[in-house]
Amino acid sequence: MCSTVYGRLDATPYERAVDDYVASEGPIALAGLLANIGPSGSKSQGAKPGIVVASPSLTDPDYVFAWIRDSALVFKALIDRFTDGRDSTRLPLILQYVQSQSNLQNTDNPSGAARGLGLAEPKFEINETAFTGAWGRPQRDGPALRSTALITLANWFIAQGNTSYVTSTLFPMITLDLNYVATYWNDQTFDLWEEVQGHSFFTTAVQHRALREGIALAQKLNSTANVASWTSEAANVLCTLQSYWQPSNAFILSNTNSGRSGIDVNSILTSVHTFSSNAGCDAVTFQPCSDKALAGHFAVVNSFRGSLYSINSGRASTAAVAIGRYKEDSYFGGNPWYLATFAAAEQLYLALSTWNSQKSITVTAISQPFFAQFIPGIAAGTYASTTSTFTTLTSAIRTYADGFIAINQQYTPANGGLAEQFSKSNGTPLSAVDLTWSYASALTAFDRRAGVLPAAWPAAGLTVPSGSSCGDSSTTLSSVTFNVNAQTVLGENIYLTGSVAELRNWSPDNAIGPLSNPNYPIWTVTVQVPANQTIEYKYIRKNGGSVVWESDPNRSFRSATTGGSVTLNDVWK
Ligand SMILES: *[C@@H]1O[C@H](CO)[C@@H](O)[C@H](O)[C@H]1NC(C)=O
Ligand SMILES: *[C@@H]1O[C@H](CO)[C@@H](O)[C@H](O)[C@H]1NC(C)=O
Ligand SMILES: *[C@@H]1O[C@H](CO)[C@@H](O)[C@H](O)[C@H]1NC(C)=O
Ligand SMILES: *[C@@H]1O[C@H](CO)[C@@H](O)[C@H](O)[C@H]1NC(C)=O
Repeated sequence: MCSTVYGRLDATPYERAVDDYVASEGPIALAGLLANIGPSGSKSQGAKPGIVVASPSLTDPDYVFAWIRDSALVFKALIDRFTDGRDSTRLPLILQYVQSQSNLQNTDNPSGAARGLGLAEPKFEINETAFTGAWGRPQRDGPALRSTALITLANWFIAQGNTSYVTSTLFPMITLDLNYVATYWNDQTFDLWEEVQGHSFFTTAVQHRALREGIALAQKLNSTANVASWTSEAANVLCTLQSYWQPSNAFILSNTNSGRSGIDVNSILTSVHTFSSNAGCDAVTFQPCSDKALAGHFAVVNSFRGSLYSINSGRASTAAVAIGRYKEDSYFGGNPWYLATFAAAEQLYLALSTWNSQKSITVTAISQPFFAQFIPGIAAGTYASTTSTFTTLTSAIRTYADGFIAINQQYTPANGGLAEQFSKSNGTPLSAVDLTWSYASALTAFDRRAGVLPAAWPAAGLTVPSGSSCGDSSTTLSSVTFNVNAQTVLGENIYLTGSVAELRNWSPDNAIGPLSNPNYPIWTVTVQVPANQTIEYKYIRKNGGSVVWESDPNRSFRSATTGGSVTLNDVWK
């Protein structure tokens, strides 16, 4: 499975230096990542089991929180190492992650109700309580990335013959997240940097991937209740994904509504996290070796050349450079990030693995400027592995990829610790120390360099129907205020539940409430619900363990169209 390159006899001194870094930094990265995971990681004090502390940094910045995105990417790396047999001891920690995520799915938070809109809450306290401060929410990549991690694990359990754990535990969690994705994918989201509210390439792409692999899992389990809706939405998401490509300037627009160039390492991270070894150089899913993803890589790297970062200014125009998030970044002054620079290498290693397995490289008009960095003036066409052009390109691109690793190597401090950023002027580490995601990005880049690939997902042969308008049959939201006049006794409170996830699907245990009663006996709450639908509901009284429902029949109302609101004035019955 793993063709190691360490100590290759034909390696150049430069490659050997990178080999040495990979060999020394790999174990440090794994240990650094594990140190940040509760309950017993050495830098995760106070974190519940399976909870990933983003960084132990408590001030400037305070990153002692559990982000859904970071945690899913970190555990995806651990799950890949476990399921491909390299790390057989990791199952207990992985099962703790599963339990922690189930707990978070069931926690009400400022994005919304548990098991409903709250699924897209970006971060929680490390003791698994809701974070209630102001934040860029919701972030709709979280449910998708969590599904992808859990689906990878589910496929392993099924292969072991343990389908019952999947049907009892994993698939219900995955279904919650994927129903969320299928319903809200086309609503605005904060991007992966938590700054821009709009549509984000990374978010759309990981949503697409999660739906496709969720469909395949559901079919394997014969649990096909949601397959039709996931399938029709996946087609719409794939169609929308195409719209981020900017043909006139040959780059991938990372976010709508950003007010910036739109060139962002978001697009490189996307091709890294949606790679599938069965999809060749398919451009519809922006595979790492697709012409569009290579043009995107070219645009992102070029945006960091020149004098933006003084550590890059002496570098040759076709050499690797330190990569940040986007050139307009001003967070901590705007600097290169380790995970961005690793991702620039990882995309290229993934591309190389596909070119080597398909035994050819195709240069198109779109990707020609990328390839011309290595062979000036190269013509469009397909170069078989038997040609010297193929050999020249693969060798030069591997050296180029190693160049990004070498930059991180140069700016890794002696103890091997990886912070979030390093200074654009002198390369010293900056911002949060021991960033868990930095360590995960080192591990995956090193794996890809050694030819170790993650499991494939159903990405092969997908097409966008011509003339499609990317129809969105998903639901958008409107607001409803419930007021109910109810006399209560001391200790008794009024709750609400109803027929949609936002009203907790008729669950008395998870019912919304207690409602607030500043104008007692009027109890009130405002909730976002799917727009333009007939929705049923009832109020309930709870007092200690006792639950009393209103009398039949169910109440019902028609929600407002998208963005609108309705107010309901009821009297307890
Ligand atoms: C959870 O952690 C937060 C932040 O440290 C703290 O305010 C809160 O009291 C804790 N809650 C519980 C139940 O431990
Ligand atoms: C399936 O996996 C779960 C979680 O590891 C375990 O608790 C259970 O005993 C397993 N069941 C079987 C039949 O192997
Ligand atoms: C799904 O159905 C097929 C055909 O009836 C059966 O062979 C297979 O065992 C079922 N799988 C599960 C997980 O129930
Ligand atoms: C609301 O739903 C009705 C019935 O399904 C439909 O006819 C109408 O076009 C919808 N209105 C909007 C604004 O979507």
